[in-house]
Amino acid sequence: MEQKEWDRLAEDYHEEVISPFYGDVENPLFDELKKIKNKKAKIVAEFGCGLFYLGETLAKKFKKVYASDFSPAMIKKASEKNKKYKNVSLCLEDIRKIKYKNKFDVIISVNSIIMPSYNDIDKSFSNLKKALKKEGRILMILPSMESVIYNGSLILHKQLEKFNEPTAKRTAKIKFENKKYDFFNGYYTDGNERQKFYYKHEVLLFLKKAGFKDIEISKVKYSWGKNISDYEDFPDEEKLWDWFVKARK
Ligand SMILES: C[S@@+](CC[C@H](N)C(=O)[O-])C[C@H]1O[C@@H](n2cnc3c(N)ncnc32)[C@H](O)[C@@H]1O
Repeated sequence: MEQKEWDRLAEDYHEEVISPFYGDVENPLFDELKKIKNKKAKIVAEFGCGLFYLGETLAKKFKKVYASDFSPAMIKKASEKNKKYKNVSLCLEDIRKIKYKNKFDVIISVNSIIMPSYNDIDKSFSNLKKALKKEGRILMILPSMESVIYNGSLILHKQLEKFNEPTAKRTAKIKFENKKYDFFNGYYTDGNERQKFYYKHEVLLFLKKAGFKDIEISKVKYSWGKNISDYEDFPDEEKLWDWFVKARK
């Protein structure tokens, strides 16, 4: 998705985007932030900060907080919300073009490296790695393609309880919006909007290629429920998830 699509979403963000900062979500990011020692002497950055929900949390914990996004509408709203924090600077910039070197102790990116081009993704991870100080750490959330496929299986099995197999497969594919996914490249396309979803093995491939070390991948788990997403509900089943990733320079 490009800048102007994100500008449009700044208005009614939660109507359209499933967020790890909204509702009853198991998000390991907060425990990881707690574990970081000596935060009052450290500089943290969030790239692709959107409305910057982490603003208050980071401003209160770290010495200096830096946040950016390439959508002017997101940055405008984020700046208004966080103007009371004197240690926070917000600016407009594109992760694919940043040129920081050894500047940040901690870098956060939450569902912001979701551009469909492999080159753009490589460039973004590489830029974030360069921006980290030696031994600095990155904490990221990335959309999971396995979670999407798991959701599809739940839909299919529910249809199989009600219909014969050909009908169940056909209706499940429609409900699941199967045509919008490219499962090989890991994209979801809706009109002009295209978003990357990551297989776990791909997360590792991209991060190793960018030169990160000590890569650990776990899950951010989302609650079922219509207030969270448009996905069909399966409250008795394992939750849907995004990847939570931590690594070092
Ligand atoms: C799903 S939102 C997440 C926002 C925020 N991190 C959060 O979790 O609330 C993705 C954000 O990434 C930003 N973004 C996408 N591509 C970007 C890029 N190339 N450079 C900077 N920001 C980008 C979008 O403008 C949008 O605000």
